[in-house]
Amino acid sequence: MLIAHTSDFHIFADAPETSLVRSDIVEATRKVVADIANFSPRIDAVMITGDLADGGSADDYALVKDILSPIKVPIFAVPGNHDARMGFRAAFEDRLPFGPGPKLDYETSIADLRIIALDTLIEGEVPGGLDDGQIDWLAERLAETTERLTLILMHHPAFPSTIKTLDQMALLGGHSKFETLITQYRGPLRILSGHIHRPYQTLWNGVWCAVSGGPSFQHALKMAHDAPEPSNLDEPFAYFIHRIEEAAAMTVHTRYVVL
Ligand SMILES: [Fe+2]
Repeated sequence: MLIAHTSDFHIFADAPETSLVRSDIVEATRKVVADIANFSPRIDAVMITGDLADGGSADDYALVKDILSPIKVPIFAVPGNHDARMGFRAAFEDRLPFGPGPKLDYETSIADLRIIALDTLIEGEVPGGLDDGQIDWLAERLAETTERLTLILMHHPAFPSTIKTLDQMALLGGHSKFETLITQYRGPLRILSGHIHRPYQTLWNGVWCAVSGGPSFQHALKMAHDAPEPSNLDEPFAYFIHRIEEAAAMTVHTRYVVL
């Protein structure tokens, strides 16, 4: 099975909410989508870890859906801090099994893969969080270990990038409770995230975790803890392709797209 993991399109129909977003983001994202849709052998499913829209208007999501239309395989997505829940739900409720809400968490599967999607959006804030209700819901999902591979999708990473200015705006609410659940779970597990705007992978509490790049803009690799705000830069955009032959095996390829 081949899984594509991309993130942070920040699509806007009228005007950007985020000043860093490239003005040709629609065309750039169409290139990413074409690369995924035309990849050989065929990608089996696509994971998009948040910030699909930059402001979250109905027009933004109509454009997002049009951009994604060349992808004919299942798409699984979670909202980011630049998304809007109502618009996100309306755009994807025909293909994603959201609960009654208001949060957009869901559990689903494709073949032998279990997918747990967590909505870490806190309206009006850049950092993310999980409330106690979501922690309880996740605890139920992880109460029994399954030998199937579980993928957790969440926009805000709970694992550090070690770039301090970015980690200060990652998952803050419910972090320690989430970490406890992850460390207690014994089955094969991976966590896919976005938000950081540069691709990286890490092993966190024994769990393999990744943040995909986003075509909208990329942050510089400034690892000094006193580094100033990360800046936009002209680096190749990359997303990840996970090749899953068996639950415990892991091969992740970095796929570059010239935008
Ligand atoms: Fe973003």
